[in-house]
Amino acid sequence: MEEEQSERGIQRLVFAVNGQRFELSHADPSTTLLEFLRSETPFKSVKLSCGEGGCGACVVLLSKYDPVTDQIEDFTISSCLTLLCSLNGCSITTAEGIGNSKVGFHPIQERFAGFHASQCGFCTPGMCVSLYAAIVNAEKTLRPEPSPGFSKLTVCEAEKAIAGNLCRCTGYRSIIDACKSFAADVDMEDLGLNSFWRKGESNEVKQSRLPLLRCHNAICKFPEFLKEEIKAAASVASEGNCWYSPVSLQQLQSLLQPNEAKNGTSTKFVVGNTGMGYYKELEQYDKYINLKYIPELSMIRKDETGIEIGAAVTITKAIEILREENKGEFYQEGKMVFIKIADHMEKIASGFIRNSASIGGNLVMAQRKSFPSDLTTVLLAVGTMVNIMGGQRQERLTLEEFLGKPPLDSRSVLLSIRIPRWNLSRDVSSKTNTEILFETYRAAPRPLGNALPYLNAALLAEIFPRETSNRIIITSCRLAFGAYGTKHSIRAWKVEEFLTGKVLTIGILYDAIKLLETIVIPEDDTSYSTYRSSLATAFLFKFLSPLIDTNAEISNALLNGYTSYQLPKNSRTKQNYDQYGEIKSPTLLSSAKQVFQLSKEYHPVGEPLTKSGAAIQASGEAVYVDDIPSPRNCLHGAFIYSTKPLARVNGIKFKPGLDEVSALISFKDIPGENVGSMTIFGTEPLFADELTQCAGERIAFVVADTQKHADMAANVAVVDYDMENLEPPILSVEEAVKRSSFFDVPPFLNPKQVGDISKGMADADNKILSAEIQLGSQYYFYMETQTALAVPDEDNCMVVYSSIQCPEFAHVTIAKCLGIPEHNVRVITRRVGGGFGGKAIKAMPVATACALAAYKLGHPVRIYLNRKTDMIMAGGRHPMKITYSVGFKNNGKITGLQLEILINAGMSADISPMMPHNMLGALKKYDWGALSFDIKICRTNLPSRSAMRAPGEVQGSFIAEAVIEHVASTLSTDVDSVRHINLHSYESLRLFFEDSSGEPLEYTLPTIWDKLALSSSFEQRTKMIKEFNKHNRWVKRGISRVPIVHQVTLRPTPGKVSILSDGSIVVEVGGIELGQGLWTKVKQMTAYALSLIQCDGTEDLLEKVRVIQSDTLSLIQGGFTAGSTTSESSCEAVRLCCKILVDRLTPLKEKLAEQMGAVKWETLILQAYLNAVDLSTNTLYVPGFSSMGYLNYGASVSEVEVNLLTGETTILRTDIIYDCGQSLNPAVDLGQIEGAFVQGIGFFMFEEYSENSDGLVVAEGTWTYKIPTVDTIPKQFNVEILSSGHHQKRVLSSKASGEPPLLLAVSIHCATRAAIKEARKQLLSWCGQDGSDSTFKLPVPATMPIVKELCGLDSVERFLQWTMAIKSENSA
Ligand SMILES: Cc1cc2nc3c(=O)[nH]c(=O)nc-3n(C[C@H](O)[C@H](O)[C@H](O)COP(=O)(O)OP(=O)(O)OC[C@H]3O[C@@H](n4cnc5c(N)ncnc54)[C@H](O)[C@@H]3O)c2cc1C
Ligand code: FES
Ligand code: FES
Repeated sequence: MEEEQSERGIQRLVFAVNGQRFELSHADPSTTLLEFLRSETPFKSVKLSCGEGGCGACVVLLSKYDPVTDQIEDFTISSCLTLLCSLNGCSITTAEGIGNSKVGFHPIQERFAGFHASQCGFCTPGMCVSLYAAIVNAEKTLRPEPSPGFSKLTVCEAEKAIAGNLCRCTGYRSIIDACKSFAADVDMEDLGLNSFWRKGESNEVKQSRLPLLRCHNAICKFPEFLKEEIKAAASVASEGNCWYSPVSLQQLQSLLQPNEAKNGTSTKFVVGNTGMGYYKELEQYDKYINLKYIPELSMIRKDETGIEIGAAVTITKAIEILREENKGEFYQEGKMVFIKIADHMEKIASGFIRNSASIGGNLVMAQRKSFPSDLTTVLLAVGTMVNIMGGQRQERLTLEEFLGKPPLDSRSVLLSIRIPRWNLSRDVSSKTNTEILFETYRAAPRPLGNALPYLNAALLAEIFPRETSNRIIITSCRLAFGAYGTKHSIRAWKVEEFLTGKVLTIGILYDAIKLLETIVIPEDDTSYSTYRSSLATAFLFKFLSPLIDTNAEISNALLNGYTSYQLPKNSRTKQNYDQYGEIKSPTLLSSAKQVFQLSKEYHPVGEPLTKSGAAIQASGEAVYVDDIPSPRNCLHGAFIYSTKPLARVNGIKFKPGLDEVSALISFKDIPGENVGSMTIFGTEPLFADELTQCAGERIAFVVADTQKHADMAANVAVVDYDMENLEPPILSVEEAVKRSSFFDVPPFLNPKQVGDISKGMADADNKILSAEIQLGSQYYFYMETQTALAVPDEDNCMVVYSSIQCPEFAHVTIAKCLGIPEHNVRVITRRVGGGFGGKAIKAMPVATACALAAYKLGHPVRIYLNRKTDMIMAGGRHPMKITYSVGFKNNGKITGLQLEILINAGMSADISPMMPHNMLGALKKYDWGALSFDIKICRTNLPSRSAMRAPGEVQGSFIAEAVIEHVASTLSTDVDSVRHINLHSYESLRLFFEDSSGEPLEYTLPTIWDKLALSSSFEQRTKMIKEFNKHNRWVKRGISRVPIVHQVTLRPTPGKVSILSDGSIVVEVGGIELGQGLWTKVKQMTAYALSLIQCDGTEDLLEKVRVIQSDTLSLIQGGFTAGSTTSESSCEAVRLCCKILVDRLTPLKEKLAEQMGAVKWETLILQAYLNAVDLSTNTLYVPGFSSMGYLNYGASVSEVEVNLLTGETTILRTDIIYDCGQSLNPAVDLGQIEGAFVQGIGFFMFEEYSENSDGLVVAEGTWTYKIPTVDTIPKQFNVEILSSGHHQKRVLSSKASGEPPLLLAVSIHCATRAAIKEARKQLLSWCGQDGSDSTFKLPVPATMPIVKELCGLDSVERFLQWTMAIKSENSA
């Protein structure tokens, strides 16, 4: 709607959500669409996860109608950043609007469910909307009509549709399959496991089984009423509101009267408002001016000299325009420049941000606040001009002048930019072979973007070949660099001047690079500053070196192993650029296999059934804690946390005028004990008392009328600290040792030493002594942050809805804290939006604080933690320092391993005393001969570390591999053979694992090891990689095979089964559904176990089973959902209940059978009701001592490729074989294996958990903490579930799958190390040294800067020096 665009504020805002009309008369201009949808509409599919544009959980489809053209534009946006007022006349579609359980699910939602692409489901509505938008837009193209059921989408587009959406559960493979299933060009063979067809069915059958995409499914309908209103321009504007949408420059100017600034009116220009994602301003402005409707800011003008783009044009639109040039008749170079700018722009953020982010907004952020922009760098290199309006004056400046000016004042407006057309910069009629080369680069943690770069570059050169030789002369060049920790993008003028007019030789390139090193220098305090500088030289090298001296033999060697995508016209240079390309995979996931055997023995247990509730998760109807509507008078809380590690808190002050704050609750308000969480090892206080124990500790809970106000109040609260006469805090394990600050480990959890270590070391031919490893933390990054809702009930009772893995413990904690009996408390948990251990202990204080506030204020109180606070308080995985000595024979057989491990537990014990047991369980995967260890749990002034998926096991497994790698490097032998020789025999396994080693036949690791070698072609690929590395200089590959052994323990678990009078069944279990498929397995088990009654209709029992939310008063002793075994023990509890019910029903059934022959299930149950058979039972499954603990086995082979110029690691392929016993549900287990593995990739390769010197977490959101995305998973991902037959002591022969596969990701780390080893060997050869320097350490995570540093930050310089030396030798 042309929004009655006037200089006056709009008073009436009309828009549609899922076809429903909304009209608001007084919207707060700072309200986001997400806030509105979640608080004012029933559409809760729109999830808040990051609040900063980095995750896609909040994505909605925005449709705009143009009454002139009668066209509708549909695109995704992030609702967490989009301001509601900017949506006048728009139609919004959320996941519920695409399809739902009432009107029918959309095929997208059905396919997400059927391809097992939803686990916790928190990311799924956003994913579905992203895919929906891609399909809707593909349908608008003129591409040929696809076969029935498919869309016009291509496979490549389908994968990229969800490129900006994060998922922490699935590992993305299944999501990609769901997306690809809509692509017109998909090969059905490429689609993975799903519930639509069985393996081996023909493509025709497969197609017919897919939920059909019909014409109307692929079209987004814009509401007619809104069209009519838009046509009638019905929106009324009036003064008095502070949102303005001027429609001309004059109107804008009048809104920016100088007197307004003088009288202190604060003004904010808004286009997409995505800048908020980075700057998170809390300030409220007096005036919001929407720049989108001013023609000068939205225009696009093209002529022979260039393209002018209005500042309010979105990045997506700009990409489209630049790409359109390809179709024009203009000169080749000009097109190439535009296309490359567009290509680069496509790596900015993600689609749903680019769709609303404006060009002008980006440039102004860069100019005003030094935002590390990609645009400024790229536009600088191509000579872009900008047009600025200040008051009545307009001014044209070069981009460089603009960036160099003092920050733009709040009344100046960027109107447009002009990108010149490059083919006209020279005399086109001349017959010279002059060419323009242009290339842009960025090194960022994720290849597809959605991550700020460490450095970006845009390099343009005009060249021509010298007639008399094969050399090339640089006529001119423009070299721009940015985002490396500089105020703004720069041009390397000195290097440009140096190169201009020069004949390009290796010497010249070397000198240019040395000169560049003096220019690209990050500002102080920039992280990885030398790495960033090295990227600049690497990119210049990559750009220019293919042009050098092509007929000399040196250059042939020189060109190997890197690529430039540009293809110069000149065939000679083109050939050089073509010499070798990195893997150019057209799709993100080129192939994937899922292999398993089906077992019918316990039908429907063992079937790969769709996850229970997956479709309602996809439609957004699944209810998470924060989706429960707020009760009347509900208040909202936010934590105030300490920023000091050890300090007295003298008081907390708020800015005056925060009227919305209702209360500030601290330890003084606690009626019972100051306890926020508890484990068997002790408690942690809910709030710091006078003394804080760590940065990130809860000090108080501020309660306000809305979550936004509570967050704002917590954010601006000023805590008065006093550190006088306090001891310095303990911030490291070394300091903890010095001050003997430890937690005790109870004797029953102390692992036993194995063998005689003195003998083991004495038997060794070689020893490594006192080697060190450091491991850092990892954050959970569940998509749903911590949340709870507490509702006071009659008679001093409290009902708490909590997203928690252990409601029983929260229950006890709340009762203790409030000083009330436990029967006054009820904790209810339906589903959790991802836990990974982080919603076990760490969810308790969240629930307890809400309960305390609700108790004190007599109002319901809820909280949904913002991502930053969540990250700061979470604690995460245990960091540790390991010192080891190892003795080994010349053949690599290890004879003794001695370990000293210092675990950083933080301020309270939490589950830390479990760590030695867990670590050793995984570390003992090899036969170490003798094993001795000294493990200390250090108490430090840091947030308490808690359980994170495979806590201790992942570190233990890594340490084992680090030792093996070290031994192999020391012996200069093949590491795979060292692994092999140290694998356990069954005898040594028994020695190391005693009770949990199981029967000899259950030790499947040796079989897995050999089977994997075959299925992954390990030997052949190892040879091929050797060849590859010989022939490629700037990319190296590595491959690695690793085994895992992971010990798990079953715990007592309750279950309750009730059969209702219509024959439907309701089940309660101690375990919580976290996305791991627990409910699905429980349903299958119930159906199986009740079917043993053998009635007619019991084959369909599955449909009759409903697993319901956990309620701590309905089913007690629920314990923890953790340690990978809760699904199977919940299943066993249910099986026992069903057995009781079957026993109770059998006499009646037999009697009825005698009377009537076949007995129907419903009849039996009805009769049981009439005969007063007790049809409800509950039980506590208590595993027997001898069957409690068991071992899980698996192995993986991973192959990676490391780019030596940037340090980027690409995972080419991973093959996994994992023993699930007899899987209860192979689809669920596959999902667990893939998801855990990808979370492991995060730990080993991406996730940097940084803290400041006080221990305060500074990786506090998606900008700084990078979990794996769809473009960072293995390009080939093959998983086989080994069905290892009958296991007498396991639950229907099944084994765990939740955590152990995470450990397998170490294969990627080891493969990376192998590739780096090759790079280092090469580097040494350039320095004239033979041999290999292989005893280096590769830290965790092996991020790009770390990998590049190990490959040689100065590798380019060294290579050029070496080349020059050879050249001079040759010519001498
Ligand atoms: C998750 C995420 C990832 C990102 N990744 C990248 C990246 O990798 N590389 C990169 O370069 N950028 C990146 N960006 C930045 C993105 O490009 C900018 O946020 C966006 O272009 C800003 O445009 P906007 O319309 O949303 O601006 P707004 O947020 O509306 O405005 C931003 C600022 O500029 C002012 N402003 C806007 N337009 C004008 C104008 N015409 N004249 C004067 N002042 C104006 C506003 O008042 C405000 O202060 C990312 C952003 C997000 C949210
Ligand atoms: S919540 Fe909006 S992008 Fe993450
Ligand atoms: S299913 Fe994607 S985050 Fe849980």
